[in-house]
Amino acid sequence: MTNSTVGALGDGRYHTPQRPSPRDVIRAQLRPEMPTPAANVLIRTDRLCKTYPDGAVNALIDVDVEIGRGEFVAITGPSGCGKSTLLNLLGALDTPTSGEIYFAGEPLSQSADIDAFRARRVGYIFQSFHLLPTLTAAENVQLPMFEAGESPTARARKACELLESVGLGHRLHHHPPKLSVGERQRVAIARAISNSPELLLADEPTGNLDTKNAFEVLELLSHLHRDRGMTIVMVTHGPEIADRAQRIVRMLDGRVESTAATV
Ligand SMILES: Nc1ncnc2c1ncn2[C@@H]1O[C@H](COP(=O)(O)OP(=O)(O)OP(=O)(O)O)[C@@H](O)[C@H]1O
Ligand SMILES: [Mg+2]
Repeated sequence: MTNSTVGALGDGRYHTPQRPSPRDVIRAQLRPEMPTPAANVLIRTDRLCKTYPDGAVNALIDVDVEIGRGEFVAITGPSGCGKSTLLNLLGALDTPTSGEIYFAGEPLSQSADIDAFRARRVGYIFQSFHLLPTLTAAENVQLPMFEAGESPTARARKACELLESVGLGHRLHHHPPKLSVGERQRVAIARAISNSPELLLADEPTGNLDTKNAFEVLELLSHLHRDRGMTIVMVTHGPEIADRAQRIVRMLDGRVESTAATV
């Protein structure tokens, strides 16, 4: 272990105390963060806290983050610092203990139909793909479209187009266990964007991939951001992966430690 300061937190978690790296400091000086005009903010958190009752872990403490429309933001930080917890709250997969999340200015806690919000306005990509193994690639991609009420013909056509757009037009009828891991993640990306969500959340999307597949997945995400204007929040451990985003939010022990634009 190179860092002798690695130690256990009181609740048994391990962390590496981090100061902003010299690179972060230079970035912040070169491109200080400008406030996003309110109309351009897609999602904002206000003093977000999450305490898990199991072990009374304070996973998030007073987290304020703001994601602009069309922004590509990476969230980094040591294992256990709360990255996945934050992403799950942003996507309404879990609820905060206190604080509020505003999506397009509306408080999520007041949402009349949170299932419709999840299905239509947010797309999710996970490290372990979360594909259904008994469904084909095309059927997996169609799943979110049921919520949108698309006809069977429209669903099938759209799934085909989406899989073609991620380079898998020749794998429509393969089941996930018969796809390579890189192909599985590309199916998951096609599924995540099938309802044209406003926000794409990706939790370590390259975590299970080799360098080549990781690069291809990053290229796809960059393409969705650059060419389709998609807002993306991506959790990652890899500095070179985070560098593909426009802004890096660094977390530590449940708090936002720093945020800096990439250069
Ligand atoms: N369901 C849960 N019940 C109790 N504690 C939890 C639960 N989920 C997460 N935690 C704890 O909350 C803290 C934050 O977890 P989280 O999964 O958000 O971390 P992370 O930054 O995503 O870590 P990693 O990089 O390892 O994925 C950790 O200490 C974790 O043990
Ligand atoms: Mg995580």
